[in-house]
Amino acid sequence: MRIVVGVGGGIAAYKACSLVRKFTETGHHVRVIPTESALQFVGKATFEALSGNPVQTGVFADVPEVPHVRIGQEADLVVIAPATADLMARAASGRADDLLTATLLTARCPVLFAPAMHTEMWEHPATVANVATLRAHGSTVMEPASGRLTGADTGPGRLPEPEEIFALASLLLERSDALPRDLEGRRVVVSAGGTREPLDPVRFLGNRSSGKQGYAMARVAAQRGAQVTLIAGNTIGLEPPAAVDVVHVTTAEQMGTAVDKHSVGADAVIMAAAVADFRPVNVAAAKIKKGAHEPNSIELTKNRDILAGLVQARRDGQLGGLAIVGFAAETGDEHGDVLTHARAKLARKGCDLLVVNAVGEGKAFEVDNNDGWLLGADGTEQSLDHGSKALLASRVLDALGPLLR
Ligand code: CTP
Repeated sequence: MRIVVGVGGGIAAYKACSLVRKFTETGHHVRVIPTESALQFVGKATFEALSGNPVQTGVFADVPEVPHVRIGQEADLVVIAPATADLMARAASGRADDLLTATLLTARCPVLFAPAMHTEMWEHPATVANVATLRAHGSTVMEPASGRLTGADTGPGRLPEPEEIFALASLLLERSDALPRDLEGRRVVVSAGGTREPLDPVRFLGNRSSGKQGYAMARVAAQRGAQVTLIAGNTIGLEPPAAVDVVHVTTAEQMGTAVDKHSVGADAVIMAAAVADFRPVNVAAAKIKKGAHEPNSIELTKNRDILAGLVQARRDGQLGGLAIVGFAAETGDEHGDVLTHARAKLARKGCDLLVVNAVGEGKAFEVDNNDGWLLGADGTEQSLDHGSKALLASRVLDALGPLLR
């Protein structure tokens, strides 16, 4: 694919280098177009070396090639990172006073802005209006991350990490339309990762969930406008998604308590976590040693089912019209195939949607891609085509939107 990476003049311009690298490493043809001021932060030679293509900022270089029209027309995706307040203002008003803004006017492909600026600039009514205009024009403007800005100050306005911009960019290539803002004003709780049930201070019973699918759910929901609380169990050291509140938990019991607390007043709960069904009855206070008192078995007790508890609480009228999504990782066995087990699970759990992944043989766990089926309580069944975990998340949210009260 032909990707244009536009770079605005902000300190986060150095992070555009990692982004360019990710695109080239995944086989894309990349053209970097910085603004003049971006070159105050990162030199032209760096972008040329990383992309393998010439870099220019104005419209008067290489004139017979008409680059200010051709690059935009030929692009499959334009990603602006960092998108500064000034660059978004120029783009929103349709200016074409440099190669990047001219390219934005001629591009007919998906356009993704990854904003980076100080909180005051991000919250200023002028920027708010420009973001709304860009979205109305069909561009996807990411929510920025919160955290440490250039100086000592912190707040929303940090550039989302390159991994996150790359995930969203890949999603736009897969979907080939803008990300809808259909979850604006909604509160969504997502659980992710595996729980760990301690045996002693150094050992636990755990599972192979990486948390990637749940993190993708949280990320895409936030970028569709939702206020998201991510309840994260053990993950493989994933970066927290931008614009998401993260609550870290370890055990199934802690996860249950956190989900119960945050689901009050929420519009939807998405249980992507791999919650342990059992925990050891006894947790040794000191490390279990070889020798005289070696255990030869572990006695287990059942954990409560968090998802089933939510469904019950909703039936009892405690959670309003909360929409509830479950996940099921299934392997077929002598009693039936993956879908047979999944249909029975949906009926047993009573949630509104069940996302079904076939697991085993390198599928679903730890990897970046996923596929499966989406079963609805109303009897609908759709297959979720193979693609990134962000794409699967996006398809689930497409189905969830109409179920929200
Ligand atoms: N789940 C939960 N609490 C548990 C176990 C599971 O909330 N104690 C949720 C998971 O987050 C997931 C769904 O239930 O959304 C299905 O999980 P799964 O482990 O497949 O279901 P189980 O009911 O444990 O079924 P199985 O007998 O296949 O293990």
